[in-house]
Amino acid sequence: MTATIIDGKAFAATIREKVAGHVARLKSEADLTPGLAVVLVGEDPASQVYVRSKGRLTGEAGMKSFQHSLPADTPQADLVDLVDRLNRDPQVHGILVQLPLPAYMDSEAVINAIAPEKDVDGFHISNVGLLGTGQSAMVPCTPLGCLMMLRAHHGSLSGMNAVVVGRSNIVGKPMAQLLLGESCTVTIAHSRTRDLPAVVRQADIVVAAVGQPKMVQGDWIKPGATVIDVGINRVPNGEKTRLVGDVDFDAAVQVAGAITPVPGGVGPMTIACLLANTVTACCKMNG
Ligand code: GUN
Repeated sequence: MTATIIDGKAFAATIREKVAGHVARLKSEADLTPGLAVVLVGEDPASQVYVRSKGRLTGEAGMKSFQHSLPADTPQADLVDLVDRLNRDPQVHGILVQLPLPAYMDSEAVINAIAPEKDVDGFHISNVGLLGTGQSAMVPCTPLGCLMMLRAHHGSLSGMNAVVVGRSNIVGKPMAQLLLGESCTVTIAHSRTRDLPAVVRQADIVVAAVGQPKMVQGDWIKPGATVIDVGINRVPNGEKTRLVGDVDFDAAVQVAGAITPVPGGVGPMTIACLLANTVTACCKMNG
């Protein structure tokens, strides 16, 4: 038997529709239009693609989109000045500084310059602390999208064994916090984990977020487990390239109970959650 494919693309479209409905009501009932500012430093082609699609989908949901592109050699102080202006701009309810920033910048200092209530990425140290202590926080979009898919598929996650492969601040750590909040038994595995296949085999839920193409093998998956693949890796494919996840999909789909594809799984959910976080930020800021 092959796994159920969790269709993140379709799920994300329904979330974006709900967001658009919410935006329309805010406009007609409170004369408010949520606004999202996205800041890109430099010309990384992958980041440019992400930023463009964030802008397009923000507009399609009826929100205001503000895009700021700065040259790769922008001094950090100029970037922080821009963030400061966006913090004070009443039309801007969400601010996202696209990562990675150029190597000479102190990313943490830049992220922590964003007003926490406008930090729709959930990366500001205040939001990290709130999430870690189980309080109401702005939650990072990728783990939030993963959790929404897991909840939609399973209902309650209470008591399940969850293994998060990857310990990044953007995905692995907040994902583990969210799963703990759902009363899962959570393991964070990483590059130094001993006998990773045996650890993953214990999991009812596997979240793969390591950035290594097809690292998680089919025979690491417990039969019937749910597999969420966060990886977006571009690999050669003849003359062209194609996207693959961190999971060997063709093998895992034979063993898992449910699995997200790449593309069309976690990726579209991330942007949908970004739009939802922006509306939440706008509502909170305006009582
Ligand atoms: N780069 C890759 N993913 C993300 C993300 O979720 N937020 C930001 N700001 N940059 C990213």
